[in-house]
Amino acid sequence: MNDINREFVSHDEALARAEAGVAKLAATRNDRWYPKFHIASNGGWINDPNGLCYYRGRWHVYYQLHPYGTQWGPMHWGHVSSDDMISWKREPITFAPSLEADRDGVFSGSAITGDDGRLWVFYTGHRWANGVDDADENLEVQCAAMSDDGVHFEKLGVIIDNPEGFRHFRDPKVWKQDGMWYMVFGMSTADRRGEVLLYSSENMRIWHFEQVLFRHPNPGVYMLECPDFFPLRDKEGNEYWVLCFSAMGERPNGFANRNLHNAGYVIGTWEPGEEFKPRTEFRLWDWGHNYYAPQSMVTPDGRRLQYAWMSPFVPPVPMQDDGWCGQLTVPREISLDSYCCIRTEPARELESLRETTMEYDPFMLGVNESFRLLDDVEAAEIELEMDMSHSTAERAGLKLMLTEDNAHTCVYYDDQTHRVVLDRHANARGDRGYRAAPFTSHTLKLHVFVDRCSIEVFVNDGEQVMSSYSFPSDGPRALEITAESGTLSIPSLRIHELRSIGLEE
Ligand code: FRU
Repeated sequence: MNDINREFVSHDEALARAEAGVAKLAATRNDRWYPKFHIASNGGWINDPNGLCYYRGRWHVYYQLHPYGTQWGPMHWGHVSSDDMISWKREPITFAPSLEADRDGVFSGSAITGDDGRLWVFYTGHRWANGVDDADENLEVQCAAMSDDGVHFEKLGVIIDNPEGFRHFRDPKVWKQDGMWYMVFGMSTADRRGEVLLYSSENMRIWHFEQVLFRHPNPGVYMLECPDFFPLRDKEGNEYWVLCFSAMGERPNGFANRNLHNAGYVIGTWEPGEEFKPRTEFRLWDWGHNYYAPQSMVTPDGRRLQYAWMSPFVPPVPMQDDGWCGQLTVPREISLDSYCCIRTEPARELESLRETTMEYDPFMLGVNESFRLLDDVEAAEIELEMDMSHSTAERAGLKLMLTEDNAHTCVYYDDQTHRVVLDRHANARGDRGYRAAPFTSHTLKLHVFVDRCSIEVFVNDGEQVMSSYSFPSDGPRALEITAESGTLSIPSLRIHELRSIGLEE
């Protein structure tokens, strides 16, 4: 253990070098697709949100960062903080590889305030067994670090070694319950099955294996990345436990699991010392093209908020030419509705981003009619109601990021499949393809967030969500509403232009 905790480079030096790496990329960044109201690095590649917390009066969001290029590479932790979740401040890079244990990457993890009032971070120290790449094995261990301000950390080194040298053994999420600390992380067994392990501790330093909390029933699923495990109460006050994970190896199944890897959850019951008893099948958090590795935190007023990485799974990934790559989703509030039904809604803090609001009286679109709502908009929130029982359209909805070359992304209701579709077939840049989420009622409420290269669609008050990148062509980005092969009744429509969260400088 001592060897593994040895510094092979001074952490301060490694951090200074990483800052210079990001600054170099940021200096020539092209902002055509750089988000106005989503968290991204000012330069370099990012992936998973890490260490989400509210500490000493500020929100902290850390994220996986490669500071030297716009591809995935040796992982660091980038950091932004905010006192209102709306205006964000860029903080110094938090972690760089510096110990033998994290030589090839400071991988994902979580943060929590300890009994000592300090901020504790748990992360995975990653090494390539051959020192270069994943051709052989990964050596992964769980590590800890501590801070008094959320900005400067002292690394404590390894707190859970990898007992068998399992290839995938990572992404600790920690919480406290009934006086005990608990940790879940993901693992791939010797026979390549995806599992979530549960550990416990009385003091956050010495951890004991409790049990395999969950083994994925599908033998094709070989790893469960970034697990999260938390209780939610439904409207009747019944408590359920939500086990989240990002499954590697799940096959597409109709409209579901269409991404390379798919993030979802299983709802069940659990209490300390007991087994987790699933009550539902695996469900997707989000039906879009680009949603992965979500992590949650609890707010001081008791809400469960989640951020995820908008993962660019399929090339081409146009932002990689612009000096940066990857953004997080907007923060979302997770709640349990009726029996085992999750709702995912935009965090209410986002309302403060609204700059101007346009409100429409109820109106009707005729057969094959389109209506231009805005000639040019980069960052907007659209609240649209469509009354399908008084409409005859076969497809009806929004055309977003519509440019002069007729490139655009559609978000529409499809009467034949009775689904909400996010369709990128007319995109001129980036990956294309469509995704389709189910819904049940006759009134369809679409709550859409459009940023410079992303679209997030909340369907019927968060019954379903879809998040996808979309890279508009050059020139003004118009917004239209359209009805195809029939009419569309629109009882209400509000459009808010949104301001920047302050990370564009
Ligand atoms: C998920 C993931 C994690 C890992 C991190 C490395 O996207 O692969 O399992 O800790 O990213 O960047």
